[in-house]
Amino acid sequence: MLYSSRMNDAMRATTTIEPGGCVHGSLRVPGDKSISHRYAILAALANGRSLIHHYAPGADCATTLTCLQSLGAIIESHTVSSEASDRIIAIDGTGPAGLHPVSHPLDAGNSGTSMRLIAGVLAAHPFDTTIIGDASLSRRPMRRIVEPLERMGAHVQTHDGCPPLTIRGTTLQGLDYEPPVGSAQVKSAVLLAGLYARGETWVREQVQTRDHTERALPVFGAHVRREGMAVGLSGGQQLSAATLTVPGDFSSAAFWFVAAATLPGSTIKIGHVGLNPTRTRFLDILTEAGASVKIENGTTTSSEPYGTVTVAHQDLRPIAITEKDVPSLIDELPALAALGKAGGGFRLSGASELRAKESDRIAVLVSGLRQMGAQVDERPDGFEIYDGPSLSGGMVDASGDHRMAMAFAIAALGATGPTVITDPEVVDVSYPGFFDTLNSLRRR
Ligand code: S3P
Repeated sequence: MLYSSRMNDAMRATTTIEPGGCVHGSLRVPGDKSISHRYAILAALANGRSLIHHYAPGADCATTLTCLQSLGAIIESHTVSSEASDRIIAIDGTGPAGLHPVSHPLDAGNSGTSMRLIAGVLAAHPFDTTIIGDASLSRRPMRRIVEPLERMGAHVQTHDGCPPLTIRGTTLQGLDYEPPVGSAQVKSAVLLAGLYARGETWVREQVQTRDHTERALPVFGAHVRREGMAVGLSGGQQLSAATLTVPGDFSSAAFWFVAAATLPGSTIKIGHVGLNPTRTRFLDILTEAGASVKIENGTTTSSEPYGTVTVAHQDLRPIAITEKDVPSLIDELPALAALGKAGGGFRLSGASELRAKESDRIAVLVSGLRQMGAQVDERPDGFEIYDGPSLSGGMVDASGDHRMAMAFAIAALGATGPTVITDPEVVDVSYPGFFDTLNSLRRR
Protein backbone atom coordinates (compact mmCIF):
# COMPACT_ATOMS: atom_id res chain seq x y z
CA MET A 1 0.00 0.00 0.00
CA LEU A 2 1.55 3.27 -1.08
CA TYR A 3 -1.25 5.31 0.45
CA SER A 4 -3.97 4.53 2.97
CA SER A 5 -7.00 6.43 4.21
CA ARG A 6 -8.45 6.56 7.71
CA MET A 7 -10.27 8.87 10.12
CA ASN A 8 -8.01 10.47 12.71
CA ASP A 9 -8.93 11.11 16.34
CA ALA A 10 -10.63 14.42 15.61
CA MET A 11 -12.74 12.54 13.03
CA ARG A 12 -11.06 14.24 10.11
CA ALA A 13 -10.22 11.87 7.30
CA THR A 14 -6.53 11.52 6.48
CA THR A 15 -4.46 9.87 3.77
CA THR A 16 -0.91 8.71 4.31
CA ILE A 17 1.51 8.88 1.39
CA GLU A 18 4.53 6.61 1.69
CA PRO A 19 7.51 8.05 -0.20
CA GLY A 20 9.77 6.50 -2.79
CA GLY A 21 9.75 4.84 -6.18
CA CYS A 22 8.80 6.54 -9.42
CA VAL A 23 5.69 7.09 -11.56
CA HIS A 24 5.08 5.52 -14.92
CA GLY A 25 2.16 5.34 -17.29
CA SER A 26 -0.08 6.67 -19.97
CA LEU A 27 -3.44 8.15 -19.02
CA ARG A 28 -6.20 10.66 -19.65
CA VAL A 29 -7.25 13.15 -16.99
CA PRO A 30 -10.82 14.30 -16.22
CA GLY A 31 -12.41 16.97 -18.40
CA ASP A 32 -11.29 20.57 -17.91
CA LYS A 33 -13.13 22.34 -15.10
CA SER A 34 -12.99 25.87 -16.52
CA ILE A 35 -14.14 24.79 -19.98
CA SER A 36 -16.92 22.55 -18.62
CA HIS A 37 -18.45 25.43 -16.62
CA ARG A 38 -18.53 27.64 -19.71
CA TYR A 39 -19.97 25.02 -22.06
CA ALA A 40 -22.72 24.21 -19.55
CA ILE A 41 -23.65 27.86 -18.96
CA LEU A 42 -23.74 28.73 -22.67
CA ALA A 43 -25.72 25.54 -23.42
CA ALA A 44 -28.28 26.54 -20.77
CA LEU A 45 -28.76 29.90 -22.49
CA ALA A 46 -28.92 28.51 -26.04
CA ASN A 47 -31.85 27.44 -28.19
CA GLY A 48 -32.05 23.66 -28.46
CA ARG A 49 -30.23 20.64 -27.06
CA SER A 50 -26.45 20.73 -26.56
CA LEU A 51 -24.34 17.65 -25.93
CA ILE A 52 -21.14 17.96 -23.91
CA HIS A 53 -18.72 15.02 -24.01
CA HIS A 54 -16.09 14.40 -21.29
CA TYR A 55 -17.72 16.96 -18.96
CA ALA A 56 -15.61 17.47 -15.81
CA PRO A 57 -16.69 14.95 -13.14
CA GLY A 58 -15.77 17.04 -10.07
CA ALA A 59 -18.08 18.66 -7.54
CA ASP A 60 -17.53 22.20 -8.88
CA CYS A 61 -18.92 21.45 -12.32
CA ALA A 62 -21.80 19.43 -10.82
CA THR A 63 -22.64 22.59 -8.86
CA THR A 64 -22.92 24.60 -12.06
CA LEU A 65 -25.31 22.00 -13.51
CA THR A 66 -27.48 22.06 -10.38
CA CYS A 67 -27.70 25.86 -10.46
CA LEU A 68 -28.58 25.87 -14.17
CA GLN A 69 -31.22 23.20 -13.61
CA SER A 70 -32.82 25.30 -10.86
CA LEU A 71 -32.89 28.21 -13.30
CA GLY A 72 -34.84 26.24 -15.92
CA ALA A 73 -32.36 24.31 -18.09
CA ILE A 74 -33.21 20.63 -18.56
CA ILE A 75 -30.12 18.50 -17.94
CA GLU A 76 -29.48 14.78 -18.35
CA SER A 77 -26.28 12.86 -17.72
CA HIS A 78 -25.48 9.72 -19.73
CA THR A 79 -22.60 7.41 -18.88
CA VAL A 80 -20.93 6.24 -22.08
CA SER A 81 -18.39 3.68 -20.86
CA SER A 82 -17.34 1.72 -17.81
CA GLU A 83 -15.49 4.87 -16.70
CA ALA A 84 -18.07 6.63 -14.52
CA SER A 85 -16.37 9.92 -15.36
CA ASP A 86 -16.82 9.43 -19.10
CA ARG A 87 -20.19 11.09 -19.39
CA ILE A 88 -22.20 13.03 -21.92
CA ILE A 89 -24.22 15.87 -20.50
CA ALA A 90 -27.31 16.83 -22.52
CA ILE A 91 -28.64 20.32 -21.86
CA ASP A 92 -31.89 21.72 -23.24
CA GLY A 93 -31.32 25.46 -23.08
CA THR A 94 -33.93 28.01 -22.12
CA GLY A 95 -33.33 30.07 -25.29
CA PRO A 96 -34.78 33.55 -25.71
CA ALA A 97 -37.34 33.02 -22.92
CA GLY A 98 -34.37 33.24 -20.56
CA LEU A 99 -33.74 31.71 -17.18
CA HIS A 100 -36.55 31.35 -14.62
CA PRO A 101 -36.58 32.96 -11.18
CA VAL A 102 -35.91 30.59 -8.26
CA SER A 103 -37.62 30.70 -4.88
CA HIS A 104 -34.56 29.47 -2.96
CA PRO A 105 -30.91 30.57 -2.95
CA LEU A 106 -28.64 28.91 -5.49
CA ASP A 107 -25.76 27.08 -3.83
CA ALA A 108 -22.40 27.46 -5.61
CA GLY A 109 -20.67 25.22 -3.04
CA ASN A 110 -16.88 25.63 -3.27
CA SER A 111 -16.94 27.00 -6.80
CA GLY A 112 -15.91 30.59 -7.46
CA THR A 113 -16.30 30.07 -11.21
CA SER A 114 -19.96 28.96 -10.81
CA MET A 115 -20.77 31.92 -8.61
CA ARG A 116 -19.04 34.63 -10.63
CA LEU A 117 -20.08 33.47 -14.11
CA ILE A 118 -23.70 32.75 -13.19
CA ALA A 119 -23.88 36.14 -11.45
CA GLY A 120 -22.91 37.74 -14.78
CA VAL A 121 -25.81 35.98 -16.51
CA LEU A 122 -28.30 36.77 -13.74
CA ALA A 123 -27.40 40.47 -13.80
CA ALA A 124 -29.35 40.61 -17.07
CA HIS A 125 -32.41 38.68 -15.88
CA PRO A 126 -35.16 40.89 -14.36
CA PHE A 127 -35.58 39.17 -11.00
CA ASP A 128 -33.73 38.74 -7.71
CA THR A 129 -31.49 35.72 -7.09
CA THR A 130 -29.33 34.93 -4.08
CA ILE A 131 -26.23 32.78 -4.54
CA ILE A 132 -24.58 31.27 -1.48
CA GLY A 133 -21.39 29.24 -1.11
CA ASP A 134 -19.57 27.05 1.41
CA ALA A 135 -17.32 28.48 4.15
CA SER A 136 -14.37 28.85 1.76
CA LEU A 137 -16.34 30.55 -1.03
CA SER A 138 -18.04 32.79 1.55
CA ARG A 139 -14.62 34.35 2.25
CA ARG A 140 -13.71 35.05 -1.37
CA PRO A 141 -13.76 38.56 -2.91
CA MET A 142 -16.77 39.44 -5.07
CA ARG A 143 -16.40 43.23 -5.49
CA ARG A 144 -14.38 42.48 -8.60
CA ILE A 145 -17.59 41.37 -10.36
CA VAL A 146 -20.05 43.56 -8.46
CA GLU A 147 -18.39 46.77 -9.63
CA PRO A 148 -18.65 46.15 -13.41
CA LEU A 149 -22.09 44.51 -13.17
CA GLU A 150 -23.41 47.52 -11.24
CA ARG A 151 -21.89 49.86 -13.83
CA MET A 152 -23.93 47.94 -16.41
CA GLY A 153 -27.12 48.60 -14.39
CA ALA A 154 -27.63 45.56 -12.12
CA HIS A 155 -27.76 45.82 -8.36
CA VAL A 156 -25.68 43.28 -6.43
CA GLN A 157 -25.71 43.05 -2.66
CA THR A 158 -22.86 41.31 -0.84
CA HIS A 159 -21.83 40.67 2.73
CA ASP A 160 -18.93 43.08 3.04
CA GLY A 161 -17.73 42.30 -0.49
CA CYS A 162 -18.10 38.52 -0.04
CA PRO A 163 -20.93 36.02 -0.65
CA PRO A 164 -23.83 35.59 -0.34
CA LEU A 165 -24.62 37.62 -3.44
CA THR A 166 -28.12 38.91 -4.08
CA ILE A 167 -28.42 39.98 -7.68
CA ARG A 168 -31.23 42.22 -8.87
CA GLY A 169 -31.10 41.82 -12.62
CA THR A 170 -32.34 44.37 -15.14
CA THR A 171 -31.90 45.55 -18.71
CA LEU A 172 -28.18 46.25 -18.91
CA GLN A 173 -26.09 48.81 -20.76
CA GLY A 174 -22.93 47.69 -22.52
CA LEU A 175 -19.65 48.55 -20.80
CA ASP A 176 -16.08 49.22 -21.85
CA TYR A 177 -14.13 47.75 -18.95
CA GLU A 178 -10.49 47.50 -17.85
CA PRO A 179 -10.44 45.03 -14.94
CA PRO A 180 -8.04 46.04 -12.15
CA VAL A 181 -7.29 42.35 -11.42
CA GLY A 182 -6.22 39.80 -14.02
CA SER A 183 -9.12 37.36 -13.71
CA ALA A 184 -10.80 35.21 -16.34
CA GLN A 185 -13.79 34.90 -14.04
CA VAL A 186 -14.28 38.69 -14.02
CA LYS A 187 -13.80 38.90 -17.79
CA SER A 188 -16.31 36.09 -18.29
CA ALA A 189 -18.93 37.54 -15.93
CA VAL A 190 -18.81 40.85 -17.82
CA LEU A 191 -18.95 39.19 -21.26
CA LEU A 192 -21.88 36.96 -20.24
CA ALA A 193 -23.76 40.03 -18.95
CA GLY A 194 -22.78 41.85 -22.16
CA LEU A 195 -24.50 39.18 -24.25
CA TYR A 196 -27.81 40.63 -23.02
CA ALA A 197 -26.83 44.32 -22.75
CA ARG A 198 -27.75 47.22 -25.01
CA GLY A 199 -24.87 48.05 -27.34
CA GLU A 200 -21.35 46.68 -27.14
CA THR A 201 -19.41 45.33 -24.16
CA TRP A 202 -15.61 45.23 -24.17
CA VAL A 203 -13.15 43.85 -21.64
CA ARG A 204 -9.61 45.20 -22.00
CA GLU A 205 -7.17 43.13 -19.99
CA GLN A 206 -3.74 44.31 -18.91
CA VAL A 207 -2.57 40.71 -18.71
CA GLN A 208 -3.92 37.85 -20.77
CA THR A 209 -6.06 35.47 -18.72
CA ARG A 210 -7.51 32.16 -19.88
CA ASP A 211 -9.70 32.78 -22.93
CA HIS A 212 -12.14 29.86 -22.77
CA THR A 213 -15.26 32.07 -22.75
CA GLU A 214 -14.32 34.01 -25.88
CA ARG A 215 -13.37 30.74 -27.62
CA ALA A 216 -16.63 29.01 -26.60
CA LEU A 217 -19.06 31.79 -27.53
CA PRO A 218 -18.56 31.45 -31.33
CA VAL A 219 -19.21 27.69 -31.12
CA PHE A 220 -22.68 28.62 -29.85
CA GLY A 221 -23.08 31.05 -32.76
CA ALA A 222 -22.14 34.32 -31.04
CA HIS A 223 -19.98 36.86 -32.82
CA VAL A 224 -16.99 37.89 -30.70
CA ARG A 225 -14.32 40.43 -31.64
CA ARG A 226 -10.76 40.15 -30.36
CA GLU A 227 -8.27 43.00 -30.69
CA GLY A 228 -5.02 42.16 -28.93
CA MET A 229 -5.95 41.64 -25.31
CA ALA A 230 -9.38 43.25 -25.74
CA VAL A 231 -12.47 41.17 -26.34
CA GLY A 232 -15.87 42.56 -27.27
CA LEU A 233 -19.35 41.52 -28.27
CA SER A 234 -22.71 43.10 -29.10
CA GLY A 235 -25.71 42.49 -26.89
CA GLY A 236 -28.88 40.80 -28.08
CA GLN A 237 -27.22 37.82 -29.79
CA GLN A 238 -29.02 34.49 -29.78
CA LEU A 239 -27.05 31.36 -28.96
CA SER A 240 -27.72 28.03 -30.68
CA ALA A 241 -27.11 24.58 -29.24
CA ALA A 242 -23.80 22.84 -29.98
CA THR A 243 -22.13 19.45 -29.63
CA LEU A 244 -18.84 19.79 -27.76
CA THR A 245 -15.96 17.78 -26.32
CA VAL A 246 -14.08 19.00 -23.27
CA PRO A 247 -10.32 18.29 -23.36
CA GLY A 248 -8.54 16.87 -20.31
CA ASP A 249 -7.83 19.37 -17.56
CA PHE A 250 -4.32 20.76 -17.98
CA SER A 251 -4.25 21.88 -14.33
CA SER A 252 -5.00 18.31 -13.16
CA ALA A 253 -2.39 16.89 -15.55
CA ALA A 254 0.19 19.29 -14.06
CA PHE A 255 0.36 17.23 -10.86
CA TRP A 256 1.39 14.08 -12.77
CA PHE A 257 3.90 16.05 -14.84
CA VAL A 258 5.54 17.32 -11.66
CA ALA A 259 5.62 13.80 -10.20
CA ALA A 260 7.32 12.54 -13.39
CA ALA A 261 9.78 15.44 -13.48
CA THR A 262 10.88 15.06 -9.87
CA LEU A 263 11.15 11.28 -9.36
CA PRO A 264 14.16 9.59 -11.03
CA GLY A 265 13.15 6.90 -13.53
CA SER A 266 9.69 8.40 -14.17
CA THR A 267 7.77 8.99 -17.40
CA ILE A 268 4.13 10.10 -17.68
CA LYS A 269 2.24 10.49 -20.95
CA ILE A 270 -1.16 12.24 -20.95
CA GLY A 271 -3.37 12.22 -24.05
CA HIS A 272 -6.27 14.49 -25.04
CA VAL A 273 -5.09 17.14 -22.61
CA GLY A 274 -6.04 20.79 -23.17
CA LEU A 275 -3.20 22.87 -24.65
CA ASN A 276 -4.80 26.30 -24.69
CA PRO A 277 -1.81 28.69 -24.86
CA THR A 278 -3.28 30.86 -22.09
CA ARG A 279 -2.87 27.86 -19.77
CA THR A 280 0.41 26.17 -20.77
CA ARG A 281 3.15 28.49 -19.50
CA PHE A 282 3.76 25.75 -16.92
CA LEU A 283 5.27 23.53 -19.66
CA ASP A 284 7.84 26.23 -20.50
CA ILE A 285 8.77 26.48 -16.83
CA LEU A 286 9.04 22.70 -16.59
CA THR A 287 11.39 22.70 -19.58
CA GLU A 288 13.42 25.64 -18.23
CA ALA A 289 13.73 23.72 -14.92
CA GLY A 290 15.39 20.86 -16.85
CA ALA A 291 12.61 18.24 -17.21
CA SER A 292 12.17 16.37 -20.48
CA VAL A 293 8.91 17.63 -22.06
CA LYS A 294 7.54 16.37 -25.38
CA ILE A 295 4.39 17.96 -26.81
CA GLU A 296 2.47 16.37 -29.69
CA ASN A 297 -0.22 18.78 -30.78
CA GLY A 298 -3.58 17.29 -31.63
CA THR A 299 -6.26 19.26 -33.41
CA THR A 300 -8.93 21.42 -31.87
CA THR A 301 -11.96 19.92 -30.11
CA SER A 302 -14.93 22.28 -30.30
CA SER A 303 -13.18 25.50 -29.30
CA GLU A 304 -9.98 24.30 -27.64
CA PRO A 305 -6.60 22.93 -28.78
CA TYR A 306 -5.48 19.67 -27.22
CA GLY A 307 -2.69 17.13 -27.61
CA THR A 308 -0.44 14.61 -25.90
CA VAL A 309 2.27 15.61 -23.45
CA THR A 310 5.02 13.31 -22.18
CA VAL A 311 7.20 14.36 -19.25
CA ALA A 312 10.20 12.43 -17.96
CA HIS A 313 12.67 12.99 -15.16
CA GLN A 314 15.99 14.76 -15.71
CA ASP A 315 18.15 16.71 -13.27
CA LEU A 316 16.30 19.86 -12.19
CA ARG A 317 17.28 23.47 -11.55
CA PRO A 318 15.72 26.04 -9.16
CA ILE A 319 12.73 28.08 -10.43
CA ALA A 320 11.76 31.76 -10.09
CA ILE A 321 8.26 32.92 -11.07
CA THR A 322 7.35 36.59 -11.29
CA GLU A 323 4.10 38.55 -11.69
CA LYS A 324 3.96 38.50 -15.50
CA ASP A 325 3.66 34.70 -15.57
CA VAL A 326 1.17 34.33 -12.73
CA PRO A 327 -2.16 34.52 -14.66
CA SER A 328 -1.06 31.86 -17.15
CA LEU A 329 -0.08 29.35 -14.46
CA ILE A 330 -2.08 30.43 -11.43
CA ASP A 331 -3.59 26.99 -10.82
CA GLU A 332 -0.27 25.19 -11.42
CA LEU A 333 1.64 27.18 -8.78
CA PRO A 334 0.98 24.65 -5.98
CA ALA A 335 2.40 21.85 -8.16
CA LEU A 336 5.33 24.06 -9.21
CA ALA A 337 6.24 24.62 -5.56
CA ALA A 338 6.75 20.83 -5.24
CA LEU A 339 8.87 20.89 -8.41
CA GLY A 340 10.95 23.82 -7.14
CA LYS A 341 11.64 22.12 -3.82
CA ALA A 342 12.93 19.04 -5.66
CA GLY A 343 15.01 21.20 -8.01
CA GLY A 344 16.90 23.10 -5.32
CA GLY A 345 14.71 26.15 -4.75
CA PHE A 346 11.59 28.08 -5.68
CA ARG A 347 10.96 31.83 -5.57
CA LEU A 348 7.48 33.23 -6.27
CA SER A 349 6.54 36.92 -6.36
CA GLY A 350 3.62 38.97 -7.69
CA ALA A 351 1.15 36.22 -6.79
CA SER A 352 -1.00 37.75 -4.03
CA GLU A 353 -4.06 36.47 -5.98
CA LEU A 354 -3.14 33.05 -4.60
CA ARG A 355 -4.39 34.28 -1.22
CA ALA A 356 -7.92 34.69 -2.71
CA LYS A 357 -8.34 31.11 -3.91
CA GLU A 358 -10.20 28.18 -2.26
CA SER A 359 -7.75 28.71 0.62
CA ASP A 360 -5.01 31.28 1.21
CA ARG A 361 -2.69 29.18 -0.92
CA ILE A 362 0.44 31.10 0.07
CA ALA A 363 -0.17 30.54 3.79
CA VAL A 364 -1.30 26.93 3.38
CA LEU A 365 1.61 25.94 1.13
CA VAL A 366 4.17 27.64 3.37
CA SER A 367 2.80 26.01 6.50
CA GLY A 368 2.43 22.56 4.89
CA LEU A 369 5.90 22.57 3.35
CA ARG A 370 7.41 23.68 6.67
CA GLN A 371 5.58 20.80 8.38
CA MET A 372 7.25 18.52 5.84
CA GLY A 373 10.67 19.90 6.70
CA ALA A 374 11.28 22.59 4.06
CA GLN A 375 12.89 25.90 4.86
CA VAL A 376 10.43 28.49 3.52
CA ASP A 377 10.00 32.27 3.85
CA GLU A 378 6.52 33.70 3.42
CA ARG A 379 6.08 37.06 1.62
CA PRO A 380 2.87 39.09 1.08
CA ASP A 381 2.85 38.21 -2.63
CA GLY A 382 4.59 34.83 -2.66
CA PHE A 383 7.21 32.75 -0.89
CA GLU A 384 10.69 31.32 -1.22
CA ILE A 385 11.66 27.68 -0.67
CA TYR A 386 15.37 27.28 -0.02
CA ASP A 387 17.67 24.51 -1.15
CA GLY A 388 18.26 21.92 1.52
CA PRO A 389 17.83 18.27 2.38
CA SER A 390 14.85 16.33 0.96
CA LEU A 391 11.50 16.81 2.68
CA SER A 392 11.12 14.60 5.73
CA GLY A 393 7.32 14.16 5.47
CA GLY A 394 4.95 14.94 8.33
CA MET A 395 1.35 15.93 8.99
CA VAL A 396 -0.11 18.55 6.60
CA ASP A 397 -3.49 20.23 6.44
CA ALA A 398 -4.97 20.72 2.98
CA SER A 399 -7.35 23.30 4.52
CA GLY A 400 -10.27 22.05 2.46
CA ASP A 401 -8.53 23.00 -0.80
CA HIS A 402 -8.33 20.40 -3.59
CA ARG A 403 -5.14 21.75 -5.17
CA MET A 404 -3.38 21.87 -1.78
CA ALA A 405 -4.17 18.19 -1.13
CA MET A 406 -2.83 17.18 -4.56
CA ALA A 407 0.28 19.39 -4.28
CA PHE A 408 1.18 17.92 -0.87
CA ALA A 409 0.61 14.39 -2.19
CA ILE A 410 3.02 14.98 -5.09
CA ALA A 411 5.63 16.67 -2.84
CA ALA A 412 5.30 13.71 -0.42
CA LEU A 413 6.48 11.22 -3.06
CA GLY A 414 10.01 12.61 -2.85
CA ALA A 415 10.17 12.80 0.96
CA THR A 416 12.22 10.53 3.19
CA GLY A 417 9.28 9.59 5.48
CA PRO A 418 5.49 9.28 5.26
CA THR A 419 3.21 12.31 4.88
CA VAL A 420 -0.27 12.40 6.40
CA ILE A 421 -2.70 14.71 4.54
CA THR A 422 -5.95 15.82 6.18
CA ASP A 423 -9.27 16.06 4.30
CA PRO A 424 -8.00 14.18 1.22
CA GLU A 425 -11.58 13.89 -0.11
CA VAL A 426 -11.40 17.57 -1.13
CA VAL A 427 -9.71 16.41 -4.35
CA ASP A 428 -13.26 15.52 -5.50
CA VAL A 429 -13.78 19.22 -6.28
CA SER A 430 -11.76 18.80 -9.49
CA TYR A 431 -10.28 15.28 -9.58
CA PRO A 432 -12.36 12.44 -8.14
CA GLY A 433 -10.18 9.32 -8.07
CA PHE A 434 -6.92 11.28 -7.80
CA PHE A 435 -5.45 9.04 -5.06
CA ASP A 436 -6.41 5.81 -6.86
CA THR A 437 -4.78 7.10 -10.04
CA LEU A 438 -1.69 8.03 -8.02
CA ASN A 439 -1.50 4.49 -6.68
CA SER A 440 -1.88 3.00 -10.16
CA LEU A 441 0.96 5.13 -11.57
CA ARG A 442 3.51 4.34 -8.85
CA ARG A 443 6.33 1.83 -9.34
CA ARG A 444 8.78 0.62 -6.73
C1 S3P B 1 -10.79 30.21 -13.54
C2 S3P B 1 -9.97 31.29 -13.48
C3 S3P B 1 -8.92 31.44 -12.47
C4 S3P B 1 -8.55 30.10 -11.86
C5 S3P B 1 -9.74 29.31 -11.46
C6 S3P B 1 -10.63 29.04 -12.65
C7 S3P B 1 -11.85 30.19 -14.56
O1 S3P B 1 -9.41 32.28 -11.44
O2 S3P B 1 -7.68 30.29 -10.77
O3 S3P B 1 -9.35 28.08 -10.89
O4 S3P B 1 -12.43 29.12 -14.82
O5 S3P B 1 -12.12 31.25 -15.11
P1 S3P B 1 -9.41 33.89 -11.58
O6 S3P B 1 -10.25 34.26 -12.72
O7 S3P B 1 -9.99 34.38 -10.30
O8 S3P B 1 -7.97 34.25 -11.74
